[in-house]
Amino acid sequence: MLELKTIDIRKSKVNTLAVPVCEDEAIHTNQSLTELVQQATGLEEFSGKAGEEVVLYDPPGVKVHRLIFRGLGPCAKVDAESLRAFAGEVVKKCIRQGLDPLILAPPDAARLDLAETSLLSALLEGACLGNQVLDAFKKEKKERPLSKISLLVARNQARRHAGLTSRIETVCRAALTAREWVNTPSNEKPPQMLAKAMIKATAKTGLKTSLLSEPQLRQKKFGALLAVAAGSSNRPVMLVMEYTPPKADKTVVLVGKGVTFDTGGINLKPSSSMEGMKGDMAGAAAVAGALLALSQLKPAFKIVGVIPLVENMPSGTATRPSDIIRSLAGKSIEIGNTDAEGRLILADAITWAIKRYKPATLIDLATLTGACLVALGEHIAGVFSADDTLAEAILAAGRATHERCWRLPLIDDYKEHLKSDLADLSNVGGTRWGGAITAALFLAEFAGDTRWAHIDIAGPAFSKKAGPYCEPGGTGFGVRLLCDLMARL
Ligand code: BES
Ligand code: MN
Ligand code: ZN
Repeated sequence: MLELKTIDIRKSKVNTLAVPVCEDEAIHTNQSLTELVQQATGLEEFSGKAGEEVVLYDPPGVKVHRLIFRGLGPCAKVDAESLRAFAGEVVKKCIRQGLDPLILAPPDAARLDLAETSLLSALLEGACLGNQVLDAFKKEKKERPLSKISLLVARNQARRHAGLTSRIETVCRAALTAREWVNTPSNEKPPQMLAKAMIKATAKTGLKTSLLSEPQLRQKKFGALLAVAAGSSNRPVMLVMEYTPPKADKTVVLVGKGVTFDTGGINLKPSSSMEGMKGDMAGAAAVAGALLALSQLKPAFKIVGVIPLVENMPSGTATRPSDIIRSLAGKSIEIGNTDAEGRLILADAITWAIKRYKPATLIDLATLTGACLVALGEHIAGVFSADDTLAEAILAAGRATHERCWRLPLIDDYKEHLKSDLADLSNVGGTRWGGAITAALFLAEFAGDTRWAHIDIAGPAFSKKAGPYCEPGGTGFGVRLLCDLMARL
């Protein structure tokens, strides 16, 4: 669907060409394009300010039928993210208007102070991520994603960046798949069904997948995970995906929280907080999506995705507040609140993964706490790790993909809050304050001395509003981040 294309627009026919324009400086080197940009900025209604748009039809000198100019604002402010946004917005407009195929004209990297690879990658990412229509549950399919999006490049550029389009398409398509899983309503994705969908998506990738069924989880003593699943008539499962290259020298485990719906359990959430809780499996979606992409990117080490899937429901069989359960690690846990379920399923998943794979590094992604949303808002994930190098690698990956992360402290004094009079641990702190930190400290108890990081994606996993390259709903947050991160470990 993505490609780099070398054509002379004076000679070859083009149906739709989109051109980014800055308000203060010329950013294209192509002579005919520069002249047309001058023509556009000569119009009263267009000067290249951010978000402005003008369309010229059959302009003289080139064989382009429809030329879309979009403003990027001042040249000095343009970065990879503004290019992603440009591409995403143009693709969305073309989907709405049925304009397919589409060609984008990349600006000159040197004039924007960007590396050529980052510039082209950003345009390709924005285009691919914006090319999604959420109509799986609609009878009438009114819009279709574009069949082809190309970047207009010189022949030597196309040669230098051979392989770029397929790599980006692999990662971004996995992010779109993760979004679809998150957007799927919970009645269509109980744990077993979601696991099957995830296995199906990885069918042609060479990933080895396996499932731990409820009887197996019971036999292995996944007490914390089963305590969360107890209230639902939908049975839990744990999905494991293994990517094993020849001669792997280390193993990285990725764990994703997969609560297919979080009602809160007996500590039932109020209606307003329950909205969006179909997305409480976004960590699982990010991990499965990342493995899907990584199996095709083929890094040199082993990567295992561990995905506990459960539904948190209230019922006559549900776990009660004050119940004491025994986790897989053997620690007893007093249930202070049945709505703090994510850390329970993660505790067992982390314990099992460390014992089974002895990973060099373990990273978990989870829509874990409302407190993280309070701390960092809707666009930033919280990162917790005792390992400075690992934390910094995650922040750097987030800067590269614009899946922004911010490190929060894991301080020992707050462990105090997780004490229980009767059990080894309580699943909630005695106070609301610092809730994202106490949740992370709870997980740390199970990670032991394995090199570990926790990413709380409660904010950025789900968005009620559309973004420049994302429809409202699941954002796919984490897929691109994890793929980028694997190259930094
Ligand atoms: N899934 C929620 C966290 C969440 C909240 C995700 C808002 C996305 C948006 C989690 O299971 C939860 O309910 N956490 C509780 C913990 C509390 C009971 C200690 C919370 O944050 O309120
Ligand atoms: Mn909860
Ligand atoms: Zn939850």
